[in-house]
Amino acid sequence: MKKIVVLTGAGISAESGLKTFRDSDGLWNNYSIYEVATPEAWKVNPQLVLDFYNQRRKELETVKPNAAHKALAKLESQFDVTVITQNVDNLHERGGSKNVLHLHGQLTQVRGEFSPNEIIELGANAIYLGERNSKGEQLRPNIVWFGEDVPMFENAVEICQSTDILLIIGTSLNVYPAAGLLEIVPLDCQVFLVDPRAEEIYTSRKCLTIIKKKAGTAVPALVENLLES
Ligand code: APR
Repeated sequence: MKKIVVLTGAGISAESGLKTFRDSDGLWNNYSIYEVATPEAWKVNPQLVLDFYNQRRKELETVKPNAAHKALAKLESQFDVTVITQNVDNLHERGGSKNVLHLHGQLTQVRGEFSPNEIIELGANAIYLGERNSKGEQLRPNIVWFGEDVPMFENAVEICQSTDILLIIGTSLNVYPAAGLLEIVPLDCQVFLVDPRAEEIYTSRKCLTIIKKKAGTAVPALVENLLES
């Protein structure tokens, strides 16, 4: 079975109604990364950080997987597929994908502030200051903030090193180490990039097909082509 890695970013969930980060109406235009998405922010104003992620988690209940998430799940009938997502939403899983690696954590999970490996499944609930794990540590979102290690990155590298096909969907490739995965796949790997603003995305990769369309239209068509090839 041929291997496919699908590297996704916020753009694949845009048509479900979740904002991206760096588009003109993106989240980082309304919030400061330094106030809500760094370990320093957590020290200075944990309430603001919890509020930000409580709101994101609540939004998850109001959105559904779109045609792109659902189409990717169909690939599993003929390929060995791993979705490596930078997204913290759960739309790939809800769209039917079985093998999803979350590089930047998951909104529906929390953990004690000093226990990165003891994950608690929270669902759509909010967390508040004073809520603690069994060790007495304040609960925080299980999200990889700017400046923190990316624990799943080594796994992602290993998976990318042996893939036959790479699909990159809806990411500006601005954030490392995730963006570096593109350079790790084998030289003869077929790479497809789906993003309506693809021309603004830098890549030195040669063997690349650029599809300058929205994911909800482009991904189902691309999946059909791959299944027929
Ligand atoms: N279909 C496909 N792509 C889209 C669509 C769409 N309907 N709408 C927007 N896009 C594209 C944009 O053109 C942009 O290139 O999605 C990309 C989103 O880029 P970012 O907002 O930078 O999101 P992402 O790349 O996922 O950000 C990476 O940054 O702040 C962090 O941790 C956060 O995981 C996130 C990381």
